[in-house]
Amino acid sequence: MLCPRDRGPLSAMVRLALLGTEDLDLERFTRLADDVPAEGVLTDADLQLALWTLYEPHYGGFEDVPADREWDPRLLAARGVLERRVEAELRRRTGDAVAAGLAAEGPLGERIFDVVAADDGPKVAAYLHRHATSEQVVDFLRERTIFHLKESDPQAFVLPRLQGAPKAALAELLYDEFGGGRPSRLHASMFADGVAAAGLDPRYGAYVDDVSATTLAVNNAMSLLCLHRRLRGAAMGHLAAFEATSSVPSRKIAAGIRRVGLPEVVAAYFDEHVEADAVHEQLAARTICGGLVEQDPGLEEDVLLGVAVCLHLDAVAGAELLDRWNHGPAVAAVAADGPERVAS
Ligand SMILES: [Fe+2]
Ligand SMILES: [Fe+2]
Repeated sequence: MLCPRDRGPLSAMVRLALLGTEDLDLERFTRLADDVPAEGVLTDADLQLALWTLYEPHYGGFEDVPADREWDPRLLAARGVLERRVEAELRRRTGDAVAAGLAAEGPLGERIFDVVAADDGPKVAAYLHRHATSEQVVDFLRERTIFHLKESDPQAFVLPRLQGAPKAALAELLYDEFGGGRPSRLHASMFADGVAAAGLDPRYGAYVDDVSATTLAVNNAMSLLCLHRRLRGAAMGHLAAFEATSSVPSRKIAAGIRRVGLPEVVAAYFDEHVEADAVHEQLAARTICGGLVEQDPGLEEDVLLGVAVCLHLDAVAGAELLDRWNHGPAVAAVAADGPERVAS
């Protein structure tokens, strides 16, 4: 993948610094980042792309960027500027949900499932199941390439930050996500096979210039939580909500894909997640999050923060997609369905 095209001054500064064309002026960068109003931070395409581009050297990197830029202090400082804005806004938006989760009674794993069950965000999977056109299903797959083609990579960064039962459970979950020893069963590979069969480019990052700011925000939140040890509780809370909102929606998506006549291999990725995520949600909520808070009760609030962040960003991204497809009446018709997420 090449360094993405910029979408404004922040992403332009990051791009030029990564390519080595121009040193990054941190003062100017900070001023520009501070100019973005708090309520616009999660939907600002320039800011979210700049952050996504700063994270990417920790994953597969860019072909046109030297590998040692990963630890360039000025780029890390720029990343910190954006992360502080994003984290503050995520905490602001989820404050009430976190407080409600803390006030609720019962074991943490149960409370996570209760919070997920009570979520009434937009129902993208239900729409794809019953109403979407073939073009809209492909549009959905295109947006999802940003996550699914490196599925579970962010969470792998958390493994060394856990101990005992939560570590063993995360390793078990990741073993599944990474194919259980079979490269063709890597979830990212299965998704790549599906998008290729749907006529899309299966190479990671092929659509980064096209996807929405909210798709970038969804992915940036995972990198933010998973790359900071202090946020490991939130990273695992996010994972639990992610897994707990996947199994049923995956069944709907697979049915929608078959309804519009896309090839079976496209649906196969979602079929895989119907059963896998029914197991993963138990591991993530009870063994990982429950175990983590048993070891360190101070992490409870952060676990609930991660749950709320996942549900909130999913709602923002889902609303954006449904709005793009311009289907008010159809959206209203499917709004009665339960909480959803699509495959993790
Ligand atoms: Fe998966
Ligand atoms: Fe999963």
